Amino acid sequence: MKAIEIRNKYLNFFKTKGHEIIPSAPLIPENDPSVLFTTAGMQPLVPYLLGEKHPEGRRLTDYQKCVRTNDIDEVGDNRHLTYFEMLGNWSLGDYFKEESIAMSFEFLTKELGIPVEKLSVTCFAGDADCPKDTIAAESWKKVGIPEDHIYYYGKDDNWWIAGEEGPCGPDTEMFYDTGKPACGPDCQPSCDCGKYVEIWNNVFMEYFKDKNGYTKLKQKNVDTGLGLERMTMLLQGKETPFDTELFSPIMDKLKELQQEDNIESRRIVAEHLRSSMMIIADGGRPSNLDRGYVLRRLIRRMIRHINKLQIDLKELETLININIENLKEMYPELEKNKKTIKSVILEEKDKFVKTLANGVKEFQKAIRKLEDTKIIPGEIVFRLYDTYGFPPEVTKELAQENGYEIDQKAFEELFKKHQEKSRAGSEQKFKGGLAEQTEETICYHTATHLLNAALKQVIGKDAHQRGSNITVDRMRFDFNCDHKLTPEEKQQVEELVNQWIQAGLPVTKEEMKKEEAIQSGAECMFIEKYPDIVTVYSIGEVSKELCGGPHVNNTKELGRFKIKKEESSSSGVRRIKAVLIKEDDFGDGGKNHLKG
Ligand code: SER
Repeated sequence: MKAIEIRNKYLNFFKTKGHEIIPSAPLIPENDPSVLFTTAGMQPLVPYLLGEKHPEGRRLTDYQKCVRTNDIDEVGDNRHLTYFEMLGNWSLGDYFKEESIAMSFEFLTKELGIPVEKLSVTCFAGDADCPKDTIAAESWKKVGIPEDHIYYYGKDDNWWIAGEEGPCGPDTEMFYDTGKPACGPDCQPSCDCGKYVEIWNNVFMEYFKDKNGYTKLKQKNVDTGLGLERMTMLLQGKETPFDTELFSPIMDKLKELQQEDNIESRRIVAEHLRSSMMIIADGGRPSNLDRGYVLRRLIRRMIRHINKLQIDLKELETLININIENLKEMYPELEKNKKTIKSVILEEKDKFVKTLANGVKEFQKAIRKLEDTKIIPGEIVFRLYDTYGFPPEVTKELAQENGYEIDQKAFEELFKKHQEKSRAGSEQKFKGGLAEQTEETICYHTATHLLNAALKQVIGKDAHQRGSNITVDRMRFDFNCDHKLTPEEKQQVEELVNQWIQAGLPVTKEEMKKEEAIQSGAECMFIEKYPDIVTVYSIGEVSKELCGGPHVNNTKELGRFKIKKEESSSSGVRRIKAVLIKEDDFGDGGKNHLKG
């Protein structure tokens, strides 16, 4: 079965079980500054898991584009991917364990035709926070999983939470037995010898965790996630996702073009190219910060490995074309953004080729001072890597050519420290992003809508939102505009927003058909990714936008709006950084500015 057939089967199956099919959210989360990329199907649904009403109802299903980059350096082995697709179904306070398990079982055995004896499942073993999940285990037995294929594990294996805080709960995981021999008498699903492969995870999300511990959510939810690439590989009896049709055209082409054989490099090129293309199609651009930096790393790592395979970089365009042809049925956005994808990747390639040249100069400068020892210290290898994007293996090769050695061990230690730091950083990001809707971020969110409306009045109707990023301390807003704002324009925008804040405009929310919303002139960023029924937020008569919320009830709550900076973001896109000041500037004792 091809990946796209599995996806369609999944969505249709859950449709027949009363689920609405909702579109994949973009890879770059909107209005969620603290998360780099969408990493799970539940991520865009957090407000609804916490109790907000979803316009499409209480049973949802989708395929979600996901990027996880914590293990970027592992890509090249037989299983790690940075981009993957997660199929999911959700109950928002509707069905719970028994029904969810029955549906999963039916889908795996009837729709995908997996023999029951190939399945094993794991359930939560219980601890002080939450009892043993005998209900899940009983539900599995009821549908036909034999007792000796049911395992219990603790929080490390059978508990799911995104980051440190947020909605969470015990999960039950389904494993597929590949038929490989057991690694020993204790071989179990939890062991990673490769006999058992996890295929699906159903989270019974009825808790919320914060600094103070666990509390019960308003509703009992189910959140499930099934990795499409892995399922495709298993059903096709392939050893790696790179052997499936998702990757085989590009893998074959690389093999044909390569002058130097290297399977890891081929996988890295194939994987990073697909990932980069998906990120770019959803609006990502390379830069030195956060998600832009992740994209830059993906593209640069890919280029290094094209070099390693001794493939002419001119072939990059051919490789992009092959991927678009191969994947456009699954992801029409690739075809639609073909030109942008090419220009972004090719420009980044040119930049990197120059950087590589500078790195060589820096290398030569460094070795002149090391003639006595002929050993290149770890710090220098690391600096070449960190500053010039210079791969250590290239430094090593260059060193050898010049009769030098590198201090590999010292480099590895520095590299490990750096990795731990960036890993901690990305976890930090994830943690902050989910469910962290503070009063401050909600105010900034409403201010974003006002700023969007004000820009339309001052610059023109064609000024649209291109991106937004909110923290508790400030907002950032990107919009298209062909010039630097004049001081007068900036002042006008600021005054308009403050006028609207002072007018105490009500913020109201309604649900309507997508077409109706668009006809009524509601603003939205990417129309195609919204479901048929949308939520529209209006602020008095001045703003109307498709948006998931949440927002303040009245603009009076915002405080004073101040633009701190206006700068270029990328070509044709300007960026405004602004803050809301809570002090008593309106002479009302400040009580209306921020609730609480
Ligand atoms: N959130 C869970 C996961 O990512 C199930 O969807 O595995």
